[in-house]
Amino acid sequence: MRRVIANGEVFVEGERRPLDLVIEGESITALLARGTGPTDAEVIDANGLVALPGAVDVHMHTREPGYTHKEDLITCTRAAAAGGYTTIFGMPNVDPPTMTTEDLDATLELYREKSIVDYNHNPAAKLLDQIAAMADRGIAAYKIFMVVDTGRTYPHPSAIGVHEHGELYEMMKEIAKTDLRLMVHPHDQSLMDVVEQSYWAAGDRSPWAYGKTLAAEDGMIWDTATGTLLRLAEATGCKLHIVHTQTARQIEMIEDARQRGVDVSAETNHWTIFLGTEEDIKEQGSYVLSYYVPPHHQQAVWDALRNGSIDMVASDHAPHTREEKEVGWTDAWAAHTGTPGIQDQLPLLLDAVHEGKLSLARCVDLTSAAPARIFNIDKKGSLAPGSDADIVLVDLGRPWTITNEAVESKIGWTPYHGRSGTGSVVRTLVRGTDVYANGEVTGLPGHGKQVTLR
Ligand code: DOR
Ligand code: ZN
Repeated sequence: MRRVIANGEVFVEGERRPLDLVIEGESITALLARGTGPTDAEVIDANGLVALPGAVDVHMHTREPGYTHKEDLITCTRAAAAGGYTTIFGMPNVDPPTMTTEDLDATLELYREKSIVDYNHNPAAKLLDQIAAMADRGIAAYKIFMVVDTGRTYPHPSAIGVHEHGELYEMMKEIAKTDLRLMVHPHDQSLMDVVEQSYWAAGDRSPWAYGKTLAAEDGMIWDTATGTLLRLAEATGCKLHIVHTQTARQIEMIEDARQRGVDVSAETNHWTIFLGTEEDIKEQGSYVLSYYVPPHHQQAVWDALRNGSIDMVASDHAPHTREEKEVGWTDAWAAHTGTPGIQDQLPLLLDAVHEGKLSLARCVDLTSAAPARIFNIDKKGSLAPGSDADIVLVDLGRPWTITNEAVESKIGWTPYHGRSGTGSVVRTLVRGTDVYANGEVTGLPGHGKQVTLR
């Protein structure tokens, strides 16, 4: 089948150009001067729209297998399609937690049956003797959490937590042999334990106390863990990806490590820049926790997004039910932490472009080109001929209002309910097939394929 996206603009080589984009089968085959496309093709009229590379989210909590009362691979990939995402990576905090080739094979089989968009899955690198074998399954990265849940048992099951520096060192030596990247949630549980005890002793288990605990001493829980990880990456040669980059000091340390030749990539998440203020936490409680990001850190993150110190924005899409959040009003440590966001993230970023906070070129790099480049994903993150026809058509001037009613995720709520902005996702294609158009998800479960590596 041949299709042409005509009369619009195409984002290529860092800018918008008035081009027609030709799709044959699953691939982009040509970019032609506007109006010179083939006449025998099905025309997608993109008048007033810009074609961007389909967004790539390397950090998503799919909840399947094991936690399908929260989300499953159909609902979360429907949300992805509606949000302009054409590739997602799932995380290992499912049940069973992904630690062995058997877990990984079974989980990848579920994606094959259900995913609407393309995918990969990051297993936990917890068992040293499984690391090399799991690499053979075509994964792009491993994931490890340095967190232990106190007061609840999810979303950080102890089976896949790693807290000992010696264990991290051994693991990173093993991963270095695979040449794949290790994604780490940086956290210092020993410090967290001490800080939270002081709030608990005072009888304060509120969402705001939880927020302040994680942000204590200007971010020391994040910073000390990040320092350790960077030093271990330098020692072992393991490629490192730091998730939840959200303090000024983390950014400085990452830049310093790069100067020393450490291969480290950095990610921040939608709630770091669009939620996570004191007002948000006091108003919405556990529904916006995730974490508290004080204004000066939020500012540092915006600067780093603009200047490239932070490589990408990933959603960390973390759906939990209302019930699992409500308990947070009396005990924030009992509420499951994390916020959903894959459906809202690209419109929020396009609004930042509209507001002049971010250039469109940086927005595209942060959401598609950089994740594809850094995780070596073949044929993604670009609209150059030869790429997969993973495309999101956006209307940079179209206003939006986010509502709970439009949520595709199984949980049926979003922390952005009621928020308005400008810059909308109009249509999403995965390898040439429409998966979302004008408010309707049309992609079918099973359309998604595991991405291949360059
Ligand atoms: O807040 C979080 N929620 N942080 C994580 O690391 C995991 C995530 C989840 O799975 O809900
Ligand atoms: Zn996460």
